[in-house]
Amino acid sequence: MPDTIAVIGGTGALGRGIARRLAKAGRAVIVGSRSAQSAQRAADELGHDIRAAANADAAAGADLIIVTVPFAAQEATLKEIAPAASGKVVVDATVPLVPPRVARVQLPEEGSAAVRAQTILGPDVAVVGAFHNVAAAKLMGDARILCDVLVFGDDKQARAQVVELSEAMGLRAFQAGPLASSAAAEALTSVLIFLNKSYGINGAGLQITGEAKPA
Ligand SMILES: NC(=O)c1ccc[n+]([C@@H]2O[C@H](COP(=O)([O-])OP(=O)(O)OC[C@H]3O[C@@H](n4cnc5c(N)ncnc54)[C@H](OP(=O)(O)O)[C@@H]3O)[C@@H](O)[C@H]2O)c1
Repeated sequence: MPDTIAVIGGTGALGRGIARRLAKAGRAVIVGSRSAQSAQRAADELGHDIRAAANADAAAGADLIIVTVPFAAQEATLKEIAPAASGKVVVDATVPLVPPRVARVQLPEEGSAAVRAQTILGPDVAVVGAFHNVAAAKLMGDARILCDVLVFGDDKQARAQVVELSEAMGLRAFQAGPLASSAAAEALTSVLIFLNKSYGINGAGLQITGEAKPA
């Protein structure tokens, strides 16, 4: 288990929710932002002894890094934290939404945002894709979340670590395959957004059915 987790873009909707749930579960969390002052404001609002820093410093101070920024900001953000991310696990939650048509699947030329992250960060970083389908607002509450987390990565240990972290946050999570398969969960987010709009659902989610064999 990582000692300290940085949430880059942790001032935003998803980052706040993840930071809050991790801190409530007793993890040491640093919220990162492009502005150290904004990070401090978010940390103060979230409570639970969450610390704050500018993104690169947050990444440097953590063993595991979670990136929660818009697709348009993914490349610049990853390049900024790359020196501090070497040798670490980076969880990328980026969904490649291209406004205004966010309810339409528009995957990047690399195949997925997670593979794009791996390309930007290089082979010394274990990139894991996760949290694409969980509505941020639900993470800010304490109710059970009816959405499973699909966790993708080429490093099985890193994947298992992110499943454990998700479970600590009160989410059911599954190792769902190699990093390239993250495209499936990233694409599903646009489908969930379409369902939200069409049926007036407040944060549509996704659940895996069937009974797992006992370990
Ligand atoms: N919201 C959800 O329910 C949800 C669910 C699943 C996945 N996701 C994905 O998770 C990522 C984050 O989503 P979000 O809703 O949390 O995003 P958001 O609130 O719009 O932005 C998150 C943070 O990204 C930072 N950022 C860095 N560069 C930026 C730029 N050029 N423009 C705007 N913000 C920038 C901002 O932090 P600073 O200004 O402090 O640097 C901002 O607070 C996205 O890729 C999204 O598709 C979101």
